[in-house]
Amino acid sequence: MATLTTRLTRMLDLRHPVVSAPMAFAGGGALAAAVSRAGGLGLIGGGYGDPAWLEAQFEAAAGAHVGVGFITWSLRKSPSLLTDVLRHRPAAVMLSFGDPRPFVDEIRAAGARVICQCQDLGHVMDAVEVQADIVVAQGAEAGGHGAARGTLSFVPEAADYLAAHAPGTLLLAAGGIGDGRGLAASLALGADGVLLGTRLWASTEALVQPGHHQAILETDGDGTLRTTVADIARQIAWPRGFTARIRRNAFTDRWHGHEADLERAVAVEGPRYRQAFAAGDAEHTGVWFGEAAGVIHAIEPAAVIVERMADEAAQCLARQAAAVGGPAAGERAVLPSAPSDLASASALAFPEAGQTERLAPPPVLDADQQAAADELINGPRGGVYGPFRPLLHRPPLLRAAAKLGETLRYAGTLDAALREWTICVVARETENVFEWEMHHPLAVRAGVPVAALGALATRSALPADLDPALALAARVARELLATHRIGEATYAQALVQWGEAALVELLTLAGYFAMVCWVMNVARTPGPQRV
Ligand SMILES: Cc1cc2nc3c(=O)[nH]c(=O)nc-3n(C[C@H](O)[C@H](O)[C@H](O)COP(=O)(O)O)c2cc1C
Repeated sequence: MATLTTRLTRMLDLRHPVVSAPMAFAGGGALAAAVSRAGGLGLIGGGYGDPAWLEAQFEAAAGAHVGVGFITWSLRKSPSLLTDVLRHRPAAVMLSFGDPRPFVDEIRAAGARVICQCQDLGHVMDAVEVQADIVVAQGAEAGGHGAARGTLSFVPEAADYLAAHAPGTLLLAAGGIGDGRGLAASLALGADGVLLGTRLWASTEALVQPGHHQAILETDGDGTLRTTVADIARQIAWPRGFTARIRRNAFTDRWHGHEADLERAVAVEGPRYRQAFAAGDAEHTGVWFGEAAGVIHAIEPAAVIVERMADEAAQCLARQAAAVGGPAAGERAVLPSAPSDLASASALAFPEAGQTERLAPPPVLDADQQAAADELINGPRGGVYGPFRPLLHRPPLLRAAAKLGETLRYAGTLDAALREWTICVVARETENVFEWEMHHPLAVRAGVPVAALGALATRSALPADLDPALALAARVARELLATHRIGEATYAQALVQWGEAALVELLTLAGYFAMVCWVMNVARTPGPQRV
């Protein structure tokens, strides 16, 4: 099973960057607990605020570390609900659809994280103002209530805004995410994780009538719409600007576009709606799911959904990393073979991953910069990526650095495993996204044991049976980076292991990569799959 490490997993101590949406009526304690136990974070759907139901759901969560979410404008009518749920010490409280200000202090005082779900950039600004821990950028593809922005453009815009104004605030993408491709795409867009509604609505633990579950399996992504007719029938007065995405069916065919008629007929249609809902009739009521329906083909346990999504996303990211921004011809990055290896190929754990690049290539190149860029594009590198993006500001340095890098790589005497391993150690120690993602697959291909790279990734002890030369190289690189020199014993061993010339080469290799990693860390240069 793959684990994707992101700022979200570190903040909340999760195995997977996946949060279940607090879906009114459907997201009970069993679902939230199943998601949390699978390594994500489950949120109970506080909905419109039924205290007895909420108590029962916390009981159903049976002590799992879950959170809860509220419809904020509704919570304002009965704020004591928040005080009640905070007694259960939820991991987080999500506020959606309304002004979060009246509630954040109480949530924070109870030690829970504040999550604000946002439908436009104005909402993101409000969330930053109240110092939310996590912002959810919800696109209109989402099931249930939402607004108009599309996920694909809203998430990166929110990511940029947060990077500029609240870099410590995490971001989740929501709306239309139904499988690992959606999770991978969300991470690529700059999110730290995803909030899933529809995909987990279609789980065995969700509180959903069998008839409604059957309906999602028969519906593709075209089969939903955003409308107000369900709220009119239920006589729930939602604030302007919010609509609900539900399944297209006989009910929406009859009333969508005829809202005034429905309002007039609500004394009859309201009870009809509620009865059909309770009976699991999928035609004459609101059936609440979003466009992700198009990639959902089975009702499965939440743990299966979450774990498969993480595996698929890790594979997807590793495939992209291998395909883009490549090393020299003949040294194309290759994929590690097992899904569990793929997580360590991902650079998502690094501090600059996903942040907005600084010191990017100048928007307009002068003649010398253009010439330097052309040399890279027409040379073995085939493009301007990694350290050469910031170095493009100083073409003579770029050329010198490129030459040194080429000499180390193509005219060096260290064997490929030792070279790639040492680069990985430096990349990990300096926490550099680019070099880690670039050289991790090359190290695997050169025969460096995946377990050793995994130990680097997780900063755990190197395997006892690791080739002594690799273990020594790790010691040399780590001592250098920590103390700027190496101890007598390490030096003596290194001399015996490699001799003077190769030791000088190894030290230069470590120094060169430390230099480019520093430059890229400051520049927040993206990893190769993001270029
Ligand atoms: C059945 C259902 C009920 C929902 N109820 C709520 C809710 O009570 N409060 C809330 O903040 N969001 C609610 N949402 C929206 C989710 O928080 C989330 O934004 C959305 O499900 C994400 O998009 P997706 O459905 O494509 O995964 C609901 C979504 C669904 C599908």
